[in-house]
Parts: sequence; structure tokens; C-alpha cells
Amino acid sequence: MKAEFWLERWQRKEIGFHQDEINAHLQEYWGGLQLPAGGEVFVPLCGKSRDMLWLRAQGHRVLGVELSPLAVEDFFLENELKPQVRSHGAFDSWSCDGVTLLCGDFFELTADDLKHVTGIYDRASLVALPPEMRAQYAGHLQRILPEHAPMLLVTMDYAQAEMSGPPFAVGATEVRELYAAHYGIEPLYTHDVLAENPRFRERGVTRLDEVVYRLRP
Ligand SMILES: C[S@@+](CC[C@H](N)C(=O)[O-])C[C@H]1O[C@@H](n2cnc3c(N)ncnc32)[C@H](O)[C@@H]1O
Repeated sequence: MKAEFWLERWQRKEIGFHQDEINAHLQEYWGGLQLPAGGEVFVPLCGKSRDMLWLRAQGHRVLGVELSPLAVEDFFLENELKPQVRSHGAFDSWSCDGVTLLCGDFFELTADDLKHVTGIYDRASLVALPPEMRAQYAGHLQRILPEHAPMLLVTMDYAQAEMSGPPFAVGATEVRELYAAHYGIEPLYTHDVLAENPRFRERGVTRLDEVVYRLRP
């Protein structure tokens, strides 16, 4: 999936993945990660997710990475935050009040960028990528993350033949293939959310499971 694909989606405001509400699974399961107070949470492929505000309100510093400058700008504008913008390696770094969004390509991140991270929140990030990129994404993430950082992972699973992604279907077997070398993987929740997502039914999907995992080193 090329960068242009996502940049154009943001330009055309085709951002059906964005939620105005704070994610219910985040609120339900985040505490189970038992992160140290005041740690830094990494939100890969963060869009303009308001979940980052919720994480900040829990006392975490938040570090997001996002390709689209429009998404990053919207995040600060819509939440009435006035960021400082500076150059940071391959990224523009937008920061305000404990939230830093690095605008640029996730694959350019280094271990130094993530050295303070104590936890990860992935919602709609792994599933945004096609199969070959998912392996690169999970590999890069695990190479640059501090070893002790647990993750809350929210995925979607459906019959991939019924619809082309994104979002792509990511099943439990693949989650294990991607992460079992470094993490113990606990499925926490599975629910078919097709009834609440008519746009997927219109695209031919007959089952749409939302699945939440806790990954602990
Ligand atoms: C499906 S959206 C999910 C956004 C967010 N996690 C949420 O829950 O709303 C995927 C996001 O990843 C961004 N993205 C895709 N590839 C990226 C990359 N290589 N580096 C940084 N961001 C990327 C896209 O611009 C898009 O905003």
C-alpha cells in the first residue's frame, strides 16, 4: 500500500475508519496492561484518533506516527491544541501538552525514537496494511521497541475473499506468526460487528469480527 493511497484518502476525506468516540475496547482493556504510571504510549499509524486524548488523560505521554500532514493538523485543530512544530530526523514533530505526533513514514522510525515507550496501542493499524507489509510492520516494530513494552491490539477478521482491504482481515494465526517470538498473546474479546457496520455488508462481507488481543513480553 503506497503512501499516496493514504495521502489521497485524507485529501478526499475518505476516513470511515476514524471514530469520534473513544474506543470502547481501549477503555475496557487498557488497565489490564498494567503499565507504569506516566510512561509513554506509542500509537502507530495514529490518524487523528481521539483515543490519544484518552491515553493522555490516563497520565501517559503519547507518541503517534502518521503519514498524512492533514491528519496531524486536524488532530491538533479539532482538539483545540496549539502544537509546536519542529523537524525531527525524517519527520516533522508536532507536540502539545504531552502528545507528540511524528508526521512521516512509520518505517523510518528508529529505536532511538521509541526508547521511552512503555506500551503500544494498535487500533486499525496492522489491519490497514496488506499481507506483505504486515510482516514488515510487525518486524520493524519489534526491532525498534524497548523489550518490556506490552501492546493492546485491535484487529478485524472476516473472509478476505469477500472484500479487498483495507481494512484487511487479520486472523489469530497471523497474529501469532507476527508476534509470538517476542510476546505472549491473549485474545480478550471477539464480537461480530457486521450489524453496526452496514458499509461492510454493502461490500459483500457476511461476518466481521472485531478481535482484541493483549500482547505481553
Ligand atoms: C486505518 S487508519 C487508522 C488510524 C488510527 N489508528 C485510528 O484508529 O483512527 C491507518 C492510518 O495509517 C496511516 N498510515 C498508513 N501507512 C503509514 C505509514 N507507513 N506510516 C505512517 N502512517 C501510515 C494512514 O494515513 C492512516 O491515517
